[in-house]
Amino acid sequence: MAKYGFIGTGNMAQAMIKGLLAQGVVPSDIAVASPTTAAKLAQAWGVQALSAQQVIQASDLTVLAFLPNQLADVTANLVFEDQLVVSVLAGVSVDQLVTATGSHQVVRTLPNVNVAINQGVTAFATTTLTVANQAIFHDFSTQLGTAIAVPEAQFAAFSAIAGSGPAYVFKFIDALAKAGVANGLADDLATTIATQTVLGSAQMLAASGQSAQVMQDTVASPGGSTRAGLDDFDQQEFDAVVAHAIRATVEHKHA
Ligand SMILES: NC(=O)c1ccc[n+]([C@@H]2O[C@H](COP(=O)([O-])OP(=O)(O)OC[C@H]3O[C@@H](n4cnc5c(N)ncnc54)[C@H](OP(=O)(O)O)[C@@H]3O)[C@@H](O)[C@H]2O)c1
Repeated sequence: MAKYGFIGTGNMAQAMIKGLLAQGVVPSDIAVASPTTAAKLAQAWGVQALSAQQVIQASDLTVLAFLPNQLADVTANLVFEDQLVVSVLAGVSVDQLVTATGSHQVVRTLPNVNVAINQGVTAFATTTLTVANQAIFHDFSTQLGTAIAVPEAQFAAFSAIAGSGPAYVFKFIDALAKAGVANGLADDLATTIATQTVLGSAQMLAASGQSAQVMQDTVASPGGSTRAGLDDFDQQEFDAVVAHAIRATVEHKHA
């Protein structure tokens, strides 16, 4: 009996499988199905490549990880009964998942790519799950990072912050590193410094129990150079730039 099944084995499924393997899930406890990539993953990682129906039957929890517009086609000939189904399909509601699969044990999730290193943040909304399925989903999702129950109406906002957010953090690191280079640092060194600074600062903030606003003041002494930089960010309306980009992201996802 496989623990976890994946129907669709693209970027997101592979990120999740990497995260599970890194947590010590044995490859034979993961079953995968897809037209071509599943067989390659079986060879490369030792997971089991099966048909989609076999994956459902063999798994405690089956992840749907193909493209959202494939939902009706892929599920048309599959029998889920009341198996636990976890979807990562962006924009597909719990109700649509119940209709497509016939299962009433359904979780809609929105993971971000950081699940690959067990540092993901995943939004989820569910039907009323059995106690056993709640435990199975809890085990699964917490191996990949943090899982947060989010009302479905807030999935688009969550997606802009957590789903697209990693790209925006990479953009900030890139800008920080480029500024370092402009001020005389070597390229590689500037990137290493900027990356470790963001990583360490996020961990410091998470450990502090303080707000990000308060933590800025702990670094910036009055009249000091960091305060001069923060004041410059404010004059350039940095917060408004970020808010504008997030609005563009949210509106694009609803287009
Ligand atoms: N990428 C992200 O950061 C991200 C974030 C949140 C949510 N999502 C969601 O994750 C889902 C997958 O996205 P992705 O980026 O991983 O896409 P992707 O890399 O394009 O992967 C799509 C997968 O679907 C498989 N597939 C195609 N036809 C199939 C069929 N008939 N039966 C079973 N599998 C089939 C493909 O198989 P082959 O490889 O064998 O062709 C491929 O493995 C989407 O619904 C997306 O909304 C993605």
